[in-house]
Amino acid sequence: MKVPFNRPYMTGRELGYIAQAHQSHRLAGDGPFTARCSRWLEGRTGAAKALLTHSCTAALDMAAILAGIEPGDEVIMPSYTFVSTANAFVLRGGVPVFVDIRPDTLNIDERRIEAAITPRTKALVAVHYAGVGCEMDAILELARRRGLLVIEDAAQGLMSEHRGRSLGALGHLGCISFHETKNVIAGEGGALLVNDARFIERAEIVREKGTDRTRFFRGEVDKYTWVDIGSSFLPGEIVAAFLWAQLEEAEAITARRIELWNRYHERLEPLERAGRLRRPLIPASCRHNAHLYYVLLPSVELRSRLIERLRERQINAVFHYVPLHSSPAGRRFGRAAGSMEHTDHLAGCLLRLPLWLGMDPDVADRVAREIEAL
Ligand SMILES: Cc1ncc(COP(=O)(O)O)c(C=O)c1O
Repeated sequence: MKVPFNRPYMTGRELGYIAQAHQSHRLAGDGPFTARCSRWLEGRTGAAKALLTHSCTAALDMAAILAGIEPGDEVIMPSYTFVSTANAFVLRGGVPVFVDIRPDTLNIDERRIEAAITPRTKALVAVHYAGVGCEMDAILELARRRGLLVIEDAAQGLMSEHRGRSLGALGHLGCISFHETKNVIAGEGGALLVNDARFIERAEIVREKGTDRTRFFRGEVDKYTWVDIGSSFLPGEIVAAFLWAQLEEAEAITARRIELWNRYHERLEPLERAGRLRRPLIPASCRHNAHLYYVLLPSVELRSRLIERLRERQINAVFHYVPLHSSPAGRRFGRAAGSMEHTDHLAGCLLRLPLWLGMDPDVADRVAREIEAL
């Protein structure tokens, strides 16, 4: 493909920082580069504590442990999301309860959450699709009133804001991804943002195989021992060194992505007016990070035709999640609460367009021409 869907962007400083980690003989987790990345994340997001993990999946696994999910506990979430959102809770014996999305932002419909709450509901997961924030005011107020934990799946949300506050730093816990497909990358990587300070001590223990090793390294205990359940969730310094090169440029990366995103948005505006497609909607409460640009076609058939036309012109456009509520594991481990009409319909109509730094901005014009000719 001449225009791949994604091409990871490198700042040019990754190898220099990796060489520094190599020369310093500090390769395990929680060394100097991890500390730099964590302080940066705390400063940028306002989280009380940022803990680097292997992936957003690992951060979600930690969140499920910290939420105290026990067999039979229910966790409300959208069905239009990545499998890890649900898997993390199923691994603890939890039951995902899927709620339909809003047709405008494709985020969980906050007006449908309350009807899905039962005496077994323990938490709800707000997934910020495409780095565009959920209706967090309503979600946080509902959770407070019903005594539920809020976990943000902000896998795609670094550098996005809801009313001036960072996505991932609004709920009790937030999970971020640095996977190669994200805006700021480490190959595989992630972070858990601990926003409710009550969870900090246990989060450090869970991340360090259930031991109090972090306290030992800080000199707070004279030996470390097994104190809780946990696993190895922390990345080594090579990954953190790579990530540091990216975080240093996070502002510039976002600004350049916004330019490409805006180009699509402007070029496709007449097609939306003509009723040929729908463009992403960004609520006034949200400052987004241009994580992805998608269009909603009127039908699955038109989407398939467009994918084919673009492929013939060497442009790779891809659809996204297959809804979890109708997947084999989703049916086995979870259940849908109410109608899933928007999820079912929109999942079939959504097409993600190429967006990566270094891409020719004219791709927006070429895509628009193919849609016009459909
Ligand atoms: C909404 C959502 N949650 C979680 C993940 C998992 O992230 P990771 O690959 O870092 O584990 C993804 C990955 O794309 C995602 O889109």
